Amino acid sequence: MKAVAVKPLQKQLDLVDIPAPDIASATEVRLQVLEVGVCGTDREIARFEYGTPPEGSDFLVMGHESLMRVEKTGPAVNSVKPGDIVVLTVRRPCQESCIACRLGRQDFCYTGNFAERGIKGRHGYMTELVVEDESYVVPLKPELRDIGVLTEPLTIAEKALAQVWEIQARLPWDLRHDPSEARGFRHKAVVLGAGPVALLGTMALVVQGFDTCVYSREAASDPRAAIVQAIGASYISSADVPIGELVTAVERIDLIYEATGASKFSFDMAVKLGANGIFIFTGVPGRKEPVEIDTDLLMRRMVLQNQIVFGTVNAAREAFQAAVADLERFNREWPDALHHLITGHFPIESYREVLQGQNQGIKDILVLSAEC
Ligand code: BGC
Ligand code: ZN
Repeated sequence: MKAVAVKPLQKQLDLVDIPAPDIASATEVRLQVLEVGVCGTDREIARFEYGTPPEGSDFLVMGHESLMRVEKTGPAVNSVKPGDIVVLTVRRPCQESCIACRLGRQDFCYTGNFAERGIKGRHGYMTELVVEDESYVVPLKPELRDIGVLTEPLTIAEKALAQVWEIQARLPWDLRHDPSEARGFRHKAVVLGAGPVALLGTMALVVQGFDTCVYSREAASDPRAAIVQAIGASYISSADVPIGELVTAVERIDLIYEATGASKFSFDMAVKLGANGIFIFTGVPGRKEPVEIDTDLLMRRMVLQNQIVFGTVNAAREAFQAAVADLERFNREWPDALHHLITGHFPIESYREVLQGQNQGIKDILVLSAEC
């Protein structure tokens, strides 16, 4: 069967032919891949800057943002059945079985020896058939067939927000469960960036009651700004309002959700965070020249204003389930905006153009199988 694979040593990106996998244990499922989303991580792998083949292989089958259909199941599988639409989680436990991996939380792995399908040590989903244990398979309602491929990028926000609420439980007023206790106080969030992780994060923040503003470099006339406005958030272009004037424009910043991978911009924003605020990093910047930041100012503000800064990567099954529930909700509330996030469907043969080309939509996807 066909697969899109990268050969890091030879610096090659190719369509390869690999044997179809079959179920090898009672709890495994064989899946037909329908669609695979492409993100910045995939483009880095396709530039040979990231990505590690499985041990003993000189190539890595790419792809980690999936939408699949269950084709057949092992005799002990009971959570899904043939025909179901599903997505797969990405990360697999480390060999050492650290405490996090043992508890199914390899998204918090201590050893760093976890594997990630399509990224690190395990083949990914840009192929026709995939076999996986049912514990990594997350079912979706058939109504999510068109947009289910957005589940994985949404999990980044789901894991982040779950942590935000746990951390902000330190504040002696309940901003989530009992709005009356918040006494009319509404959390103000600023999302940095306007890619899929940012826009899906914006949707998640809006449904959780945040007064949300997206701050990014695209002009206010960009279609991304229209998506933001359609879901009840506001859009401010950094071309119109410089960082120095942003706080005046939005009044106060309680939460910053960074989804740009631009470190200088992010740290310049971090000093704009308000009292008791929380800053979430999700981007993974490539290494560039060191930049100057005002560390005295940053540290003073963190201490004197009780601030939190945290980074978050990958997601556990719970976050996938939360993402599925949120996608259903976004699809009811803003079906058009949600569908507009997917800007291109490409056949597998277009892999080079999608992974290495210059023209990028918001979320471009490879269609592995036309069946629906
Ligand atoms: C994926 C995560 C992964 C991270 C680091 C991201 O693009 O969405 O699942 O953990 O890359 O490899
Ligand atoms: Zn990704």
